[in-house]
Amino acid sequence: MDMPSNRIITIDGPAGSGKSTVAHLLAERLGIDYLDSGAMYRAATLLALRRNIDPADGDILAPVLEEATLRFEWTLSPPPLFLDGDDVSSAIRTMEVSSQVSEVARQGIIRDVLVRQQRRIASEHPQLVTEGRDQGSVVFPDALIHFYLHADPAVRARRRVDQLAGQGTMVKLEEIIADIERRDRIDSTRSVGPLVRPDGAVDIDSSSMSIEEVVEVMVVAVETVLAQEGGETC
Ligand code: DC
Repeated sequence: MDMPSNRIITIDGPAGSGKSTVAHLLAERLGIDYLDSGAMYRAATLLALRRNIDPADGDILAPVLEEATLRFEWTLSPPPLFLDGDDVSSAIRTMEVSSQVSEVARQGIIRDVLVRQQRRIASEHPQLVTEGRDQGSVVFPDALIHFYLHADPAVRARRRVDQLAGQGTMVKLEEIIADIERRDRIDSTRSVGPLVRPDGAVDIDSSSMSIEEVVEVMVVAVETVLAQEGGETC
């Protein structure tokens, strides 16, 4: 499919809904870039832990985050994330970071810094699949198409357990369900950038769908929007 220039595709949804995997595959199918905005919140959390800053203290953390260099290596797919020159792609996936990242992400002062960086990235990579809880609802309301991807908490927890097991980390299903439900609660009730279904979003419940099926539904939806716009070749 030929994507027109300057087009953003957003995927919002709760923790563990498969957003990252789906977004990466969709971007590959369309031949465009992929932005994992959650990785940026995770890197901000790692930064706090490394600098001994309380992750809940945005007033201290925000200026430090502003000074730090967060950079994706766009020549690789998916693009690894570097924090001050250090590849932190694995370090941001530890349970220590996962359990504290909601504290960081709930603070407006931190979100302001990262939303600005996400919009700058989009201006440099105008053909972009971006995923994260607020990408369609707040950061890119004028995107070409918004998706809202969700699934039952138990299904999401099972996927996370399998994913961690694949990386050699064994965890208890009950612990992951509790962590996902806790994060859902914090993410949907926070005052800034809460998890909501963006207006007009294509709603996809992936509870009983494979990753490939989700990607296929999205490709068809993108093709339909482009065809409706007329003149664009798919
Ligand atoms: O998608 P993830 O699990 O890597 O996201 C990590 C955390 O960052 C999660 O608690 C929600 C938060 N987040 C956010 O608030 N806004 C985004 N655009 C992306 C992630």
